Amino acid sequence: MNILAIESSCDETAVAIVRDGREVLTDCIASQVALHREYGGVVPEIASRKHMEAIYALADQALEEAGLTRQAIDAVAVTYAPGLIGAVLVGVNFAKAAALAMNKPLIPVHHIRGHIAANYLAYPELEPPFLCLVVSGGHTMIVEVKDYTDMRILGTTLDDAAGECFDKVGRVLGMPYPGGAALDKAAQQGDESKYHLPCAKPGTNPYDMSFSGLKTATLNLIHHAEQVGEALDVNSLCAAFTAAVSETLVPRVVRALKETGYRKVAVAGGVAANSRIRHDILEAAGALEAQVYMPPLKLCGDNGAMIGAQAYYEYLAGHVADMSLNAYATKSILGEAL
Ligand code: KG4
Ligand code: ZN
Repeated sequence: MNILAIESSCDETAVAIVRDGREVLTDCIASQVALHREYGGVVPEIASRKHMEAIYALADQALEEAGLTRQAIDAVAVTYAPGLIGAVLVGVNFAKAAALAMNKPLIPVHHIRGHIAANYLAYPELEPPFLCLVVSGGHTMIVEVKDYTDMRILGTTLDDAAGECFDKVGRVLGMPYPGGAALDKAAQQGDESKYHLPCAKPGTNPYDMSFSGLKTATLNLIHHAEQVGEALDVNSLCAAFTAAVSETLVPRVVRALKETGYRKVAVAGGVAANSRIRHDILEAAGALEAQVYMPPLKLCGDNGAMIGAQAYYEYLAGHVADMSLNAYATKSILGEAL
């Protein structure tokens, strides 16, 4: 089954064609990152307009690269939630029109389910059940993937997402948007023991997380150094910050592995590209003899292929939509009736 998959929830317009949920025939991306960099973050109105300009040509390009005609497409999938609402609407509207014009099923996909499904593309042998640490710009959670479309949230951030904090700290340090990748690079040159930053343990659920205290403490440290004219060791501060994020995430993953008995853990989302987090997860899960699944960097960030992968399983579960499909800025990853 060839699925044409559309992703436009943030600042990448992406169209992919994925066969049977596992084989990427093509994965086209038109990134707007350079444009938003000028403003230090995504400007929603600009994002929507750029999606609108790019999406049709990108879909044509995807067909051409895959060497397929429209007749060879069996269904159209789209990220319908969550994301910048104007941006998601562009993809949903395009997908509805394409499905209607080609008379094919329309499959709505939750963006975070898509991130998890990036692992199915990287690891053909991976099948649920498994645990997944989701760390993106907007979400941070530990999910039990019981089946392809049946999930349970063990814990989640109670405030900021990890990626949001990477971006905020990166911005204040003068790094180009999005700050995560630059901060990762700087951290590799630093000495994390030079700065002490807090790791919060919020609430009563041991799997819940909090990053806003860490973010504020890091920003305060930067501003204080500026005010008193103290030279900041940026690399070491980045190392200490990244260590604190990892020390929030990884022990919770370890606890989840121990308590659930699973021996398979996947990582998903843009922050899953972080070298320190990848290293720490590998080491900690390895000590428990758990298998770790980490998509290559290209599949960690937003892309269309991950939406096409998850769409296949949503389709098999009967999750198709009609022309009344709407877009949502926020929506739980848990299976809503569509
Ligand atoms: O999953 P994603 O592409 O978009 C959302 O769904 O939010 O994640 C983007 C986030 C950004 O916050 C970006 O700074 C972060 O992923 N990111 C990283 C790294 N590469 C991307 N954060 C830490 N280390 C990295 N190497
Ligand atoms: Zn994403």
